[in-house]
Amino acid sequence: MELRDKFDRVADYLRIGVTDRCNLRCRYCMPEKGIDFADRKDLLSYEEIIRLARVFRELGVNKVRLTGGEPFVRKDIGFLLKGLSDLFPKVHITTNATLLQNYIPLLKEVNISGLNISIDSLDRDKFFLITRRDTYDVVMSNILACIAQKVPAKLNVVVMKGVNDMEIVDFVQFGKDHGITVRFIEAMPFNEDDGNRDVFLPAVEILNRISERFPDIRKVENGAIASSDTYVLEDGQKVGIIPAYSRTLCSFCNRIRMTPQGELMTCLYSTSGTDLRSLVRTPDVSDADLKQHIANSIIKKKKDGFVEEKDQVGSAFRSMTKIGG
Ligand code: GTP
Ligand code: 5AD
Ligand code: SF4
Repeated sequence: MELRDKFDRVADYLRIGVTDRCNLRCRYCMPEKGIDFADRKDLLSYEEIIRLARVFRELGVNKVRLTGGEPFVRKDIGFLLKGLSDLFPKVHITTNATLLQNYIPLLKEVNISGLNISIDSLDRDKFFLITRRDTYDVVMSNILACIAQKVPAKLNVVVMKGVNDMEIVDFVQFGKDHGITVRFIEAMPFNEDDGNRDVFLPAVEILNRISERFPDIRKVENGAIASSDTYVLEDGQKVGIIPAYSRTLCSFCNRIRMTPQGELMTCLYSTSGTDLRSLVRTPDVSDADLKQHIANSIIKKKKDGFVEEKDQVGSAFRSMTKIGG
């Protein structure tokens, strides 16, 4: 079985938000005081997530990504990681790397398919300015530990004009020096605040900045199913650019999302979805019923993030932590 929408896209990649909590306060993501975090009782339990994940697996999903908030702040996350690793060929995590020092052996044990690590500055003070927390040293040390121990990792850099755009080339150089792919992300309006309007730098401009310093950069045709445009430098080093706000990759989108409260969202720009939590908590709802509800939801996936946004006027500025990025 597979989850095909009416634009003939197959959803085989599920992003599972495990918590909306985070130990950082990145400015592009949430205000200093945090957000109105969900009550713990409203989060799906690990058993509920694993039951739903099994259902998604039977519906053809072959890749899951744990997101947040910060996935490693949720207690006993290892239990979930092991459960999902038994079910899926590809298990990935997106993390801020502040707590990774405690988990590298576990990541090796479950043979993690990939870690996307967020780091938006190579400068300690600037890192503090962006994240509002003084964790640069531990993040950098954990990134270097992943590289040394061959945990497959990539770096995510949210580009902000006037804040860290002057570091784009330094990040590319860091990637070359350490043999790690760096992906630059357009800032999206999801921060429960000013919508990141003043700092937005479009993907084309990010590419121009890299091309000025590395003129040999060329695009890799990757058959499109990826959230990023991939480029390669002369020495083979890969660089990614994610047109998250420009939304030029929607026609190939294979992603669906489940929020920490169990809402199935078909697009990052959706503001409502199918309430899977109520369904799993209803005793006589079978796995076959769940499959039907999920398939009905996917078929309604809209053409792209612009259509989603147009339909949902007024609520575009929620924090990324609520939907899992
Ligand atoms: P890979 O599986 O390694 O390709 O990772 P990913 O890019 O799917 O996941 P990650 O969590 O690292 O997300 C990186 C950035 O891409 C985040 O800012 C996401 O919000 C953005 N992104 C992921 N999926 C989508 C999407 O469906 N639409 C848009 N517009 N942006 C997305
Ligand atoms: N715009 C773009 N990227 C964002 N992220 C979090 N909030 C935003 C935003 N408003 C990034 C994180 C992480 C990924 C899941 O999404 O830095 O790398
Ligand atoms: Fe935490 Fe990620 Fe949001 Fe930063 S972007 S505050 S690391 S959830």
